[in-house]
Amino acid sequence: MRTVAFREMKHGSREDYLLLAEYERGYVAGAPERVLRALAQLDAEPLLGYQVTRLEHSLQTATRADRDGADADWVIAALLHDIGDVLAPTNHDQLAAAIIRPVVRDECTWVVAHHGLFQMVYYAHHYGEDPNGRARFADHPYYQACVDFCERWDQSSFDPDYDSLSLDHFAPLVRQVLSRRPWEPEVLREGEAVGLPPERSPRL
Ligand SMILES: [Fe+2]
Ligand SMILES: [Fe+2]
Repeated sequence: MRTVAFREMKHGSREDYLLLAEYERGYVAGAPERVLRALAQLDAEPLLGYQVTRLEHSLQTATRADRDGADADWVIAALLHDIGDVLAPTNHDQLAAAIIRPVVRDECTWVVAHHGLFQMVYYAHHYGEDPNGRARFADHPYYQACVDFCERWDQSSFDPDYDSLSLDHFAPLVRQVLSRRPWEPEVLREGEAVGLPPERSPRL
């Protein structure tokens, strides 16, 4: 394997940096596979106490989105929303949002980034904490989407009897979405509140 000549970045030549760019292209292209492996690894060090594993919770959340007819951006957001649990347990939502931010709609990234705070409405009172921290975002254009994401897809996805779709089922979509050209304005659609699709009744 060829390597650069420098030992300090500031001494690198144009040839050095062209070589690195060549390697980086391949590395970036491999990111979707690494994300899939990270998802599969969610259960390697399980978070105890729930009736379902973190991977099952993630698959269940994505399956509910899928069965509601949500678009690819929502399904990927649902599938990856807790992927930060392993490395960043106290701000897992921020880590997940960073992974999807360049390639999914801004609204979906915002919802993933804030779902931890919004989910507190369901349990924080049991710890003597404020369950309504999310109220400070009440005027935000993505507020209702985050409320709905939590209520319909996230908080409801701890059911051990739910027939979730498999990781293999979602893998092609992960590869497709995470391989999008990053930071494309027509993908990010910043500031545009699309919302969740209408809820199916009864909830599947
Ligand atoms: Fe979460
Ligand atoms: Fe979750």
